[in-house]
Amino acid sequence: SEDLWHLHAPIDAELTAPKTLTGSVTLIVPTFNESGNVAELLHRLGDALPDHLPCAVLFVDDSTDDTPAVIEKAAADHPFPVSVLHREVAEGGLGGAVVEGIKGADTDWIVVMDADLQHPPHLVPELVGEGERTGADLVVASRYIAGGSRAGLAGSYRIAVSRGATWLTKGLFPRALGGISDPMSGFFAMRRSAVTAEALKPLGYKILLELAVRCRPREVAEVPFVFQERFSGESKSTAREGMRFLAHLASLRSATPPARMIGFGLIGFSGFVPNLAALWLLTHAGMHYLPAEIVANQAGVLWNFVLIETLLFRDRRRHRHWADRVGRFALLANADLLLRIPLIAVFVARFGMEVLPATALALVTTFVLRFAATEALVYLP
Ligand code: GDD
Ligand code: MN
Repeated sequence: SEDLWHLHAPIDAELTAPKTLTGSVTLIVPTFNESGNVAELLHRLGDALPDHLPCAVLFVDDSTDDTPAVIEKAAADHPFPVSVLHREVAEGGLGGAVVEGIKGADTDWIVVMDADLQHPPHLVPELVGEGERTGADLVVASRYIAGGSRAGLAGSYRIAVSRGATWLTKGLFPRALGGISDPMSGFFAMRRSAVTAEALKPLGYKILLELAVRCRPREVAEVPFVFQERFSGESKSTAREGMRFLAHLASLRSATPPARMIGFGLIGFSGFVPNLAALWLLTHAGMHYLPAEIVANQAGVLWNFVLIETLLFRDRRRHRHWADRVGRFALLANADLLLRIPLIAVFVARFGMEVLPATALALVTTFVLRFAATEALVYLP
């Protein structure tokens, strides 16, 4: 097909090609080994897209299977232009792929959807239509408003994780996600003009979150959708993707210097000194070591608090009374300690990890969580 450019050159060289993608919508579909889905997706899109909505389909592909070839074949009798941007290096994962696609699009709208048919194709014109009608910059297909549901999210474990992640994320970004009931959705339409591509640092699956937090679209609308069963194959999400999500949250929350997070870590480490000193004093004064541990931990917490107040968040102290800050800080620091034990148990019992790496991983995880929570709950208005 003439419309199809299928490129294997390094990414920089390829960015001249998308100039051909004019029209009103670029439909960006990230693919990683979806050879069993892409033909059916194109078929259903062909039925769903009306003639009056010029739409170019752009697959951004990181596959190691024959997905690009299958797309090429299926594209031959598709009513709209179809292209594949194949990346040799899957930088940024799903989110990185979508941003590559956005950079190459110069249409009024971009729509992002998964290739596995969990996102109903017939909603593509509806998302754009809702944006045109309301003037919104961003239209999110949501599972969590009336008429939507997550029928295709298999298993109570995945549902619990998804719910927890949504709750945590909404809590960390109350303003940026104010109008978005489903910030984890991977199905949405956004005006190209509302995207500042240079500001984006995508990391993994949550590209909508990335766009909502870093680009701050002015108006947001939502359309309900029912999350379907996967058509073919399996989800590409892994436990490693979960870790990437935590790193993404931390990076979004401390959008200002990453130095802040490093400083937070160093100060936390220095807290061992007063902690151990207090432990030595208390046990030598005759206190049992268990209560002494608890009291001594507070010495470390206090030390950390004073340093973090003066060195890291000097500019953000006005939002709360100091007693409020110290209380919240101490609560988070002790919760960190409590959370670590069950986390280690999960890593060992559920994922079969050794105790030492499990402990290191738990330390890193609770550290990232505590940093994000401290910034959000102690030092933000
Ligand atoms: N290019 C590229 N690179 N595409 C990828 C990559 C990658 O590294 N990883 C996954 N994809 C593609 C898949 O091929 C698929 O088209 C789409 O991204 C979604 O991947 P799935 O593996 O099907 O994700 P999921 O079903 O577990 O998660 C979906 O639903 C979640 C809500 O429960 C995604 O839409 C998530 O973003 C969403 O949060
Ligand atoms: Mn899926």
